[in-house]
Amino acid sequence: MDALPTFDLVLFGGTGDLAMRKLLPALYRRSAAGQLASDSRIVGAARSPLTREQYLEKVEATCRAHLGKQFDPQCWARLAGQISYCKVDANSDEDFAALRAPLAGREATVRVFFLSTAPDLFAVTCEGVARHGLVTPHARVVLEKPLGHDARSSAEIDERVGAIFAEGQIFRIDHYLGKETVQNLLALRFGNTLFEPLWRRGRISHVQITLAEDLGVERRADFYDRTGALRDMVQNHILQLLSIIAMEPPASSDPDALRDEKLKVLRALRPLAGREALSRTVRGQYKAGATNGRPVVGYRQESGVSPDSTTETFVALKAQIDSWRWAGVPFYLRTGKRLQEKLSEIVLTFEDVPLAMFDRPAPPVSLNRLVIRLQPHEGITLSVLGKYPGEAMLLRPVELSLDFCETFKTPRLDAYERLLNDIVKGNLTLFMRRDELQAAWRWIDPIREAWLQYDYEPKTYTAGSWGPAAASALIGRDGFAWSNEL
Ligand code: BG6
Repeated sequence: MDALPTFDLVLFGGTGDLAMRKLLPALYRRSAAGQLASDSRIVGAARSPLTREQYLEKVEATCRAHLGKQFDPQCWARLAGQISYCKVDANSDEDFAALRAPLAGREATVRVFFLSTAPDLFAVTCEGVARHGLVTPHARVVLEKPLGHDARSSAEIDERVGAIFAEGQIFRIDHYLGKETVQNLLALRFGNTLFEPLWRRGRISHVQITLAEDLGVERRADFYDRTGALRDMVQNHILQLLSIIAMEPPASSDPDALRDEKLKVLRALRPLAGREALSRTVRGQYKAGATNGRPVVGYRQESGVSPDSTTETFVALKAQIDSWRWAGVPFYLRTGKRLQEKLSEIVLTFEDVPLAMFDRPAPPVSLNRLVIRLQPHEGITLSVLGKYPGEAMLLRPVELSLDFCETFKTPRLDAYERLLNDIVKGNLTLFMRRDELQAAWRWIDPIREAWLQYDYEPKTYTAGSWGPAAASALIGRDGFAWSNEL
């Protein structure tokens, strides 16, 4: 892989969960792969008054924990030499002034301000670095989700950040876009002619997107209880996946060509509001149960969650896209915590044959399906009917599997490694544009408003199950079933 241009990266929220779990291990891996120029620098910035040594101890511990046997003391020593620490409280002007020293004399170098902080600190942090003259023409800012909590707060962040950075300098991260299978979906759709004639109404009967997690809220109860599954997963990851599946072929691989097409999909989503939002959405909250063979507490008993919380940990909904390609094709979306397993997949189910001449299982089992699995075991499977060996003409489902790991035996980048590389290279293709984000919020807000207006409290489901029974009824009413129920 090509070496990256020299960069300076200031990691705000540098002691936080995301930095420790994902970003710093990702930087380690790129460094170990020889992609980081030796004069690149990483400045951890957070509120705690740590010395450089104390910060390095934390980073080393997290890299060791996440890399296991791949951790190599020599690689670490090399990376550690490039890391420093600066205490920055976003409300202290003095602290921002202290950032000048590690960046001095590097005005012509790519400069990345990575804001892995709460969204209410995005604008003040950008204003802080701007006040101290740290925003150079080569600077860019990275904003981690959640980008606000509704259309209004997100627009306010956009306004204030946009007053300092041009749109081409703003990288809004949705880490799902960095996943290899999502990019493979683009390759499958726009690198082949095979699927294009089938990719539409009349050929596809419905689409399902499932982002299921077996984990609960872990140590993020405070954030999660204020956010809920609709804003944590549907507003961003699920809608991004939906727009990639549903978009028209872009005219080129230019970032804006792709983002223009995604935007059109988001704008064509039929609004879900009022009573209709109630009948087409299911909210759930997990109660005590068991996952992976061990008992787990219910959401309301999680530490940091209020015992009468009405935050949803599960959402299922039926979306429709009002376009010529997709009119009448339902998109069923669902996500939840503490479900039976970790599973992220997109399933496109094709229409049935007009005449069933052979003995075969009853639909929906026998329908052709294209399954795009993001995790675990990334891959794409096409399920078709084949003849079961023997005298009789019995048809049974068989799978044509595309296993990219097996075929291309080459190391793969994790989503954050890929996105960090793109940020340093200045490639915006896999990042959300301001208007996309606004369109997504404008579709999400009325759903939440309807839930509030009609007091729609979440239905409980047992931890370790596939969510409330109402989610099966939602799709079952249209004669379909979730893929795990087939
Ligand atoms: C994050 C959400 O964006 O995505 C988390 O805030 C969720 O709640 C996570 O656990 C899931 O990401 P992944 O890559 O593990 O599926």
